[in-house]
Amino acid sequence: MRKKIIAANWKMNMTQAESERFVETFLRDCGEIIDVEVVIVPPFTSIAKVMEALGRAQNIKVGAQNMYWEKSGAFTGEISAALLRDLFVHYVVLGHSERRTLFGETDEMVNRKVRAAHEATLRPIVCIGETLEQRDKGNVEKILSIQLRGSLAGLTPKELQETVIAYEPVWAIGTGRNATPQQAQEAHAFIRKTLREMADDTTAERVRIQYGGSVKPENARELMSQSDIDGALVGGASLDPRSFAQIVKAAREK
Ligand code: 13P
Repeated sequence: MRKKIIAANWKMNMTQAESERFVETFLRDCGEIIDVEVVIVPPFTSIAKVMEALGRAQNIKVGAQNMYWEKSGAFTGEISAALLRDLFVHYVVLGHSERRTLFGETDEMVNRKVRAAHEATLRPIVCIGETLEQRDKGNVEKILSIQLRGSLAGLTPKELQETVIAYEPVWAIGTGRNATPQQAQEAHAFIRKTLREMADDTTAERVRIQYGGSVKPENARELMSQSDIDGALVGGASLDPRSFAQIVKAAREK
């Protein structure tokens, strides 16, 4: 049984004071967090504040939105896996479509980051997904296969099992237009099939695949009830602690 994983990607939002208020309200609203894993992914500048506000809250982990693959050195403006581990960060989102399109990240760069993350025992959440043009041309599977094989090249089965994949169709991000549960399930099943080819059955069954793209309290339950959808990577709706708490609750319901 795969434990569902719900992550809040705050992107370039949330001051320290806003982060602290968010955590207080969220903890009050979401009730006991059992059978699901919750990850908060603040901007770097609010990571320590979120950690502090969470205190001993169980089943809530903190992630980062990016990192560089080198261990240390003259790389002005970059953050290493070791520096994130130093803050007790557990997860790191890598290859988000915003990084791919706005900052020129390629599958090869994502792969270097993914491998560096594993080396530092930081768990990557690797984002993949097609554009609308690619979908309209019937290229969804081709694109997903290229991104998966490129971003996850060279990982051992164990490392793959400790990797979370986020299927985020680019056309669904921040648009209010989510993939239908059927579209998402189809893509997730294809991703799992590809993982089977890249590794083995056990590995493919263990990897958690999140859906991301306009997830809201209103659509979360149906999306997450699909057999290959193991959680959500939430952008806009994760900035409101009440909405995010509702999405977490939706993950608990069968
Ligand atoms: P939205 O939920 O705002 O569509 O963003 C999705 C996303 O990019 C999460 O990483």
